[in-house]
Amino acid sequence: MERKNVLVPEADIARQWDFEEKIRAMFAARQAHPAACVDTFGCQQNVADGQKLMGMLESCGFTFTQDPKEADLVILNTCAVREHAEQRVFGNLGILTHTKRENPEQVITLCGCMAQEERVSRRVKESYRHVDLVFGPHALWKFPELLWQVYETRKRVFAVDDEHGTIAEGIPVVREKGVKAWVSIMYGCNNFCSYCIVPYVRGRERSRDPQCVLQEVRELIEAGYKDITLLGQNVNSYGNDLELGYDFADLLADIDQIPGEYLIRFMSSHPKDATKKLFDTMARCGHVAKQLHLPFQSGNDRVLKEMNRRYTRAQYLGLVNYAKSVMPGLVLTSDVIIGFPGETEEEAMDTVSLVEEVGFDALFTFIYSPRPGTKAAAMPDPASRQEKQKWFDKLLEVQNAQSAALHAAYVGKTVRVLVDGESDDGAYPLASRTEGNRLVRLKGDKALIGRFIDVKVTDSNTWALYGEPV
Ligand code: SAM
Ligand code: SF4
Ligand code: F3S
Repeated sequence: MERKNVLVPEADIARQWDFEEKIRAMFAARQAHPAACVDTFGCQQNVADGQKLMGMLESCGFTFTQDPKEADLVILNTCAVREHAEQRVFGNLGILTHTKRENPEQVITLCGCMAQEERVSRRVKESYRHVDLVFGPHALWKFPELLWQVYETRKRVFAVDDEHGTIAEGIPVVREKGVKAWVSIMYGCNNFCSYCIVPYVRGRERSRDPQCVLQEVRELIEAGYKDITLLGQNVNSYGNDLELGYDFADLLADIDQIPGEYLIRFMSSHPKDATKKLFDTMARCGHVAKQLHLPFQSGNDRVLKEMNRRYTRAQYLGLVNYAKSVMPGLVLTSDVIIGFPGETEEEAMDTVSLVEEVGFDALFTFIYSPRPGTKAAAMPDPASRQEKQKWFDKLLEVQNAQSAALHAAYVGKTVRVLVDGESDDGAYPLASRTEGNRLVRLKGDKALIGRFIDVKVTDSNTWALYGEPV
């Protein structure tokens, strides 16, 4: 990939401000106060994209509502990773025919990963004629221009060209209130795991300039954010395309130099690119949370090969053992797929045994979902849904017992947490997170929100810890 072609020129970004101004002026002339409803599905990358959409909308003069019936503009920012996520979006699109009938001026937008799939944009074009605007992740930066085009022409607009992707700096962001912030440090994926749609919809890997990342993190810390997560599909390959001899561990070490009281996390890490240098850097840097999300997907070497993951069970275990040795108390989480095409019960049980061997604090578990266009979708898949469900239930049983045991070991201990908001549990009105990102429901006053405090853990279950400030 030619790195010089990756950055969207500043002048093109600046041109978007003109479109934002046009949209603002159009509503001002009508003395209208437009509201937008932005509904985001999928991973944190998509959440971060949703915050950019809101930033651009705010610049266009929009306020926000959660209710599509009240909205002048509805945006579904979608995920394509599993079939279920797609079905939900088509269901929601169906419901929007009613809101549009009530308010024919309403503009309905489909964006995100699903929109980038040719199969999806064709279906929307043909069968969901109330949708006005469709654009994929590659066109996110020119959203104001696309929206203006809809308002000006009153024609449907589709911006879904397949491309390797760009990097757009300087897009405004509306962040969640509070202490947590997301920072994308790279976009796209080059790995083509055989089951996964992401490389097809998010383009090739491209890393942001380290100075841009450092500047953004510095600004967030100055603005009071205390729990900052660096995002990428595989942060361990950060910098490969920059050819600066600067890698993800170097970026972490540089961020760690920024003064202040804050934690840095990151996700996701691909085991094939995780290095001892990364773990040594994590161990050494005080601001870097001792928490690692390292998806292994399967504990069986044949399945890992078919998945095109490019590591073995033994290599994965070697990495985890090294990471634990340099970071005692490391909190480990992972992603797992059960029921990959051709997986046998014995192979699925290798995944369960890996879970038993490692002792993850939590797991994100998925039953394989075929994604049209990926290599795995064309593989024979003889196991029935019931069989896969049985293996999946076994995995959950083992993991839940493990999470409960690891959580129980906290009881009686004093841990440092960041109080990050209110909890939905009346007896424990505050929510907080340990450095390892474990949820601790807390007794205490709302005035503690936003502060790092020491708490005594008094109780636990599979999902959370309970405690009180000491
Ligand atoms: N880039 C991250 C990595 O490789 O660790 C993962 C990103 S993916 C959006 C999140 C998780 O979704 C994956 O780790 C995998 O477990 C799961 N996933 C991806 N494709 C899937 C599929 N076709 N069926 C079921 N789960 C899938
Ligand atoms: Fe998908 Fe694999 Fe890329 Fe993760 S590394 S986004 S699982 S292709
Ligand atoms: Fe994320 Fe879903 Fe796209 S998991 S990258 S929003 S396909």
